[in-house]
Amino acid sequence: MKFFIDTGNLAQIKEANDLGILDGVTTNPSLMAKEGIKGEDAIAQHYKTICELVDGDVSAEVLSTDFDTMIEEGKKLAAIHPNIVVKVPIIKDGIKAIKWFTDNGIRTNCTLIFSAGQAILAAKAGASYVSPFVGRLDDGGWDGMDLIGQIRHIFDVQQYDTEILAASIRNPLHIIKAAEQGADICTCPLDSILGLLKHPLTDIGLAKFIEDAKKM
Ligand code: G3P
Repeated sequence: MKFFIDTGNLAQIKEANDLGILDGVTTNPSLMAKEGIKGEDAIAQHYKTICELVDGDVSAEVLSTDFDTMIEEGKKLAAIHPNIVVKVPIIKDGIKAIKWFTDNGIRTNCTLIFSAGQAILAAKAGASYVSPFVGRLDDGGWDGMDLIGQIRHIFDVQQYDTEILAASIRNPLHIIKAAEQGADICTCPLDSILGLLKHPLTDIGLAKFIEDAKKM
């Protein structure tokens, strides 16, 4: 399973990249707004900076919801860097846009996936990635990981090439479960990635090793 970081924060992207395990970055309008990025030029520059920091795909989301504007936006985003993947919402015009981007050699990440049916449509349109939102499903009382498993099964049976990008990850257990369910990628906040490191027995064991090392 590949690891992406889900943020627009450059310091966090650098920290995850320095671990040597980062395969890409996902952003969304909420994450970009959180960093105070405003205006077309500043947004494009921010994506360029991220692409120069990380050797992997960087998802950049369109801000419009109609076909023509999504195509114009997506073309501009894709021109920023070869690693840009245009993130498109799962709506009617979004599916048409994904098909257009696919036919024109632009890779896409279909976002806001909350059902297997949405994932099937996105895959049929040629999306490079689908992003099921695990945490938001859990928040509503559904089981987000069940959806990852269901989409994995369908994509395997149907031999779809579209990669499953588990998104809306909230904790280390989500990452472990996404790996179990066969997600191709897990996009995570930095805290959830670092949380994978933690175990009290590791801390106790290391403290003892350090103490005993003084006796050597
Ligand atoms: O980028 C999409 C997704 O990861 C959002 O996560 O935590 O806002 O549900 P969250």
